[in-house]
Amino acid sequence: MKSSSTEFFAGKQTPTWGINGSYLGPTIRASRGDQVSFDIVNNLEETSTLHWHGMRLPAVMDGGPHQMMEAGSVWKPYWTIEQPAATTWYHPHLHGKTALHVYRGLAGLFIIEDEDSTALPSEYGVNDIPIIIQDKLVKSDGSFKENMGLTPFGLLGNQILINGTYDPYLKVTTSQIRFRLVNGSNARAYNLGFADNRTFYLVSSDAGLLPEPVKLDRLLLSPGERAEIVVEFEAGEETILHSFAGKGGIENGEFDLVKIIAETSLLKSSQLPNQLTAEPPIDVPENAKVRKFEMTTASAINGKEMDMNRIDEVVPAGAREIWEITNTGWDHNFHIHDAAFTVMDKNREAPPIYERGRKDTVFIPNGTTVRLAVEFGSYPDPNTPYMYHCHLLYHEDSGMMGQFVIVEPGTESQVSQQLPKGNHDH
Ligand code: C2O
Ligand code: CU
Ligand code: CU
Repeated sequence: MKSSSTEFFAGKQTPTWGINGSYLGPTIRASRGDQVSFDIVNNLEETSTLHWHGMRLPAVMDGGPHQMMEAGSVWKPYWTIEQPAATTWYHPHLHGKTALHVYRGLAGLFIIEDEDSTALPSEYGVNDIPIIIQDKLVKSDGSFKENMGLTPFGLLGNQILINGTYDPYLKVTTSQIRFRLVNGSNARAYNLGFADNRTFYLVSSDAGLLPEPVKLDRLLLSPGERAEIVVEFEAGEETILHSFAGKGGIENGEFDLVKIIAETSLLKSSQLPNQLTAEPPIDVPENAKVRKFEMTTASAINGKEMDMNRIDEVVPAGAREIWEITNTGWDHNFHIHDAAFTVMDKNREAPPIYERGRKDTVFIPNGTTVRLAVEFGSYPDPNTPYMYHCHLLYHEDSGMMGQFVIVEPGTESQVSQQLPKGNHDH
């Protein structure tokens, strides 16, 4: 991780941060069952962390606020990938600084593959295309305005970067393209579709493939969420991936994201499978524990501001629980580390069709109660918490975050609610 500069706008150098480059980081691709390890080198002049968003792993490897990396230090996380194929991502998570560090450019994709996912278009950069969507507030000299608390939601930008490119186009050479859409923005939600209103197939949500492809023409993605779609193209045509005006709040604004130009002759792709995965949807047992969370306009969850030394929830390893979250304030969303969930309902009604897959982040507009069927990871560690939080990064930094530990089932009551001061693994 280092700071340098990037030329997004012709003739202008924008100060940026990047990982193995000047802006964003490399796409990592691994298979279910792989063991992975990293040497993360912090060559910044300040402390940061690197969190694996969407990954099931031991808490000490999670890269959250407790795995701080001081300037000049090296962190060597490792784990075995034990979860279905998904488009996950990584980004810093230093408490109070996440918004700024992500905004400056520290983020990247981590693709997990398995037998199911490789039955879809999988030639990276050819018919398997990442689309990391970020909005920036750009000053006339090309630098980013760094006012993280500009609106009640945080910073909303006036320019869009896709994979760190301003005003991009993509030439496609095959009749089907799989896009891995990642909302890597601080606060903005995108109401995605195509300028010509063509339909597309949703094949995967944050945390894994859907049972079968779902035909859509719009898809809302709030910060931190991912979706994989498959789109069909005819030779010689052009369209634009577009973000349509939404309801206001974090769904405001309208943007062209990527122009797509199909070559005059296209390689014919194979038919989309009818069944994408046999992985059962996440559900909860009859007597599942229910935990309730309240989000308002305050920088807190359940009235409590994030405290690095307080354990808010204790969850038995491998538990399946109902998390019920009510938002009576600004637009928020909710992300849980080391977990995957399905959205049971929103205001007691079935969620929108694009939110019915396996997820780890869910949009909760003001005035909404959402119930999640959550499946937690299974590495117990009573001393190192995972996070749950609003993924509007300014909200998260301001205190809209809580901590939970995963423990050996039956040992819940032995966990102390306070972590010893200074218990931060380096
Ligand atoms: Cu994308 Cu707790 O993070
Ligand atoms: Cu995360
Ligand atoms: Cu929020």
